[in-house]
Amino acid sequence: MSVKVSWIAAPVLLCCTMTGAIAGAAPAAPVYTAEGKLQLPSDYREWIFLSSGLDMSYSKLPSMTGHSMFDNVFVDTESYRVFVGTGRWPEGTMLLMETRAATEKGSINQHGRYQAGGVMGIEVHVKDSKRFDGGWAFFGFDGKEPASMRPTTEDCYSCHREHGAVDTTFVQFYPTLLEIATAKGTLKVTDKH
Ligand code: HEC
Repeated sequence: MSVKVSWIAAPVLLCCTMTGAIAGAAPAAPVYTAEGKLQLPSDYREWIFLSSGLDMSYSKLPSMTGHSMFDNVFVDTESYRVFVGTGRWPEGTMLLMETRAATEKGSINQHGRYQAGGVMGIEVHVKDSKRFDGGWAFFGFDGKEPASMRPTTEDCYSCHREHGAVDTTFVQFYPTLLEIATAKGTLKVTDKH
């Protein structure tokens, strides 16, 4: 197993490192510290944008926080290309959700909401089956420091596993991916995802 993986992985790493060097960007693969924390992929704003959600809530009760927020979801470019071809996520996939405050009136805006101010939070969802039971793990960033893995007892894992339309990810809310997964037949068969 390890022999097979290493001779497959070597050319892939070489190719991506070279592409990264040419493009001046870091190779898109999760980078961990010695303690197993995930490094923040600092170039994620150059990844593929999937969608924004405004005040999405997973509870039927009205939001109690009084804060209006956008979330912006990105995926690393290499994994996106694999998904376009197959409707599936390869090992090393990173999906990143960034949250920002939503605000109403400013400049010439009179109606509707737009994103304002700095990043309020970043969560990264990583597929790395050799490292994580269940294949995926979440990392919550507070600033730019490396983040610890969220414990698998958190409800992130159960909700994503039970309701995510493709391999624990919420493809049903990312319109361009939904079209691809539908065409490739990789959507999880369930009546409510
Ligand atoms: C009750 C269900 C539910 C729970 C619990 C939940 N999420 Fe999600 N998550 C969603 C939905 C729905 C989306 C997609 C829509 C959106 O918000 O943009 C999503 C999207 C995401 C994404 C974007 C990538 C992807 O996988 O689709 C990340 C990252 C993420 N969630 C992290 C977390 C973390 C971290 C936690 C736990 C602290 C968590 N989620 C808990 C439902 C859930």
